[in-house]
Amino acid sequence: MARKKIIAGNWKMNMTPSQTVELINTLKPLVVTEDADVVFCVPAIDIIPALEASKGSNIEIGAENMYYEEKGAYTGEIAPDMLTDVGVKYVIIGHSERREYFAETNETVNKKVLKAFEHGITPIVCCGETLTQREQGVTMDFIRQQVKIAFLGVTAEQAKTAVIAYEPIWAIGTGKTATTEQAQEVCCGIRKCIAEIYDEATAEAIRIQYGGSVNAKTAPELFAQPDIDGGLVGGAALKPDFGKIVNWK
Ligand code: G3P
Repeated sequence: MARKKIIAGNWKMNMTPSQTVELINTLKPLVVTEDADVVFCVPAIDIIPALEASKGSNIEIGAENMYYEEKGAYTGEIAPDMLTDVGVKYVIIGHSERREYFAETNETVNKKVLKAFEHGITPIVCCGETLTQREQGVTMDFIRQQVKIAFLGVTAEQAKTAVIAYEPIWAIGTGKTATTEQAQEVCCGIRKCIAEIYDEATAEAIRIQYGGSVNAKTAPELFAQPDIDGGLVGGAALKPDFGKIVNWK
């Protein structure tokens, strides 16, 4: 089946609200396409200005994280209905930086994935190995574990609408993109894991991105791979060149 590509920017901790408006106005004409879903995942404080600046365009706005409780004494956290109330459609869950710096675990990722589906928000579920794990040859074992726990309790129908982002930690922010072969091999392995958890139809429907130093040069070959349905882009998403990544063909 032909899966529509999904190309998302992960702005991380960058752009003030005024810089957000400026960047979206710059990128809006450059990211026009009918061949991919285009998503800008922005810091919480930038979500409303981003929604306003992107109104009428093909850009969807996503969040970079959310909590798994509905409301309450969780200082600093963002509840799911705070996102849906303003029109956020996607949320990145389990990014390696949240796992590293903010005690995100496979178990909290699963809670957040379930909560996102409960609120009709599409989760972009991150997974990926360290350089040591790759060198030890345990990449797929590690990622299968991440995926299996993240999708505990998720129905096949929900999983079909999900996005998984394979982001080898050693390629994030390093300028060292995984080779096309490495990225395709792992994304194919993730799709096989989804087939084992659910069935072939679900595995065929779910969209799997590659992330980790994606740029205008590496995007075309990566996105042309049979099991890579687009990218989760960090640094390059903050520049006009993001238009070339979105229009990779
Ligand atoms: O979530 C995307 C991010 O981790 C990739 O960052 O700068 O390597 O494209 P970057």
